[in-house]
Amino acid sequence: MLEALDLKKQFKNTRAVDGVNLFIEQGEVVGLLGPNGAGKSTTISIISSLLPPSSGDVRFFNESIIKKPQTLRKHLGVVPQEIALYNNLTAKENLQFFGKIYHISSNLIKTKMEEVLEIVGLQEKQNDLVKTFSGGMKRRLNIGVALLHEPKLIFMDEPTVGIDPQSRKYILDTVKRLNREQDLTILYTSHYMEEAEYLCDRIYIMDQGHIIASGNNNEIKGILSSEQTVVIEAEIIEDSFLNKLEYHPSVTQVYRQENAIHVIVPLEMDFFQTIIDIAGETETSLKSVQIQTPSLEDVFLHLTGKALRD
Ligand SMILES: Nc1ncnc2c1ncn2[C@@H]1O[C@H](COP(=O)(O)OP(=O)(O)O)[C@@H](O)[C@H]1O
Ligand SMILES: [Mg+2]
Repeated sequence: MLEALDLKKQFKNTRAVDGVNLFIEQGEVVGLLGPNGAGKSTTISIISSLLPPSSGDVRFFNESIIKKPQTLRKHLGVVPQEIALYNNLTAKENLQFFGKIYHISSNLIKTKMEEVLEIVGLQEKQNDLVKTFSGGMKRRLNIGVALLHEPKLIFMDEPTVGIDPQSRKYILDTVKRLNREQDLTILYTSHYMEEAEYLCDRIYIMDQGHIIASGNNNEIKGILSSEQTVVIEAEIIEDSFLNKLEYHPSVTQVYRQENAIHVIVPLEMDFFQTIIDIAGETETSLKSVQIQTPSLEDVFLHLTGKALRD
């Protein structure tokens, strides 16, 4: 359906996108994952024809959108990272306004609005001013706006950042439903691995302008198939304990996640005794030590050396 070929984008001193190749098949939910600054939003802007690349091409059903953006635009919905709504208008007035921009005829707009309000669960709030909405409700309305003109393909740029858990769940479920019931093809960017795991048929992992891994969940997890994650909880985690783990010759990676430490070591290794020894040497009182198969988060860390969480 859509294909990006060797995309590059240079902003003064920053190479935001550096040789990105990706494709989206009709009917898929594709994840574009990466930490802040990876180049996800820039990639989305280019493949939505809003920003010209420095070089490379974007093809929509095999036609370049660089020369002919109109072919893509009428089939594409974009939910931008920054919410784009009028605060002093009601939800309904916002939809009416954007409907006009999309040239939706005035007799169709009424049914479309009702449909969209139902999809994003805002029927009861349709006459409320957007400025009274929570972040999650605004985000949902923004998704509604992107659905008005019945796109075949939709790009969602970090739609769950900074919203309450209920809205987040609602959005994730809506994305799934839209894909299954309305055959909408979706590109979803996020820095939450568990969202990608839940939603996506295929995932691209991006860092510093590059795609550094791609595949379905299992293929990506397979990158660490010969390793295990040891999750350690301790009363107090001192730097000395972390350092000793980090510099242990068998350890691939160590990172801290909330109150736990994740240590990635080869699968065949029995690391329990080592942990107990290091805890003894650094006077760390352990609460628990568990072995897990690596998560997508672990893979990401392994590939980039950075945690995804903000
Ligand atoms: N308009 C711009 N001008 C200059 N630098 C930019 C611009 N947009 C993005 N960048 C830079 O490009 C890099 C990638 O940004 P972005 O695509 O927003 O990443 P992400 O969406 O993954 O967080 C960052 O270093 C960012 O500062
Ligand atoms: Mg972004």
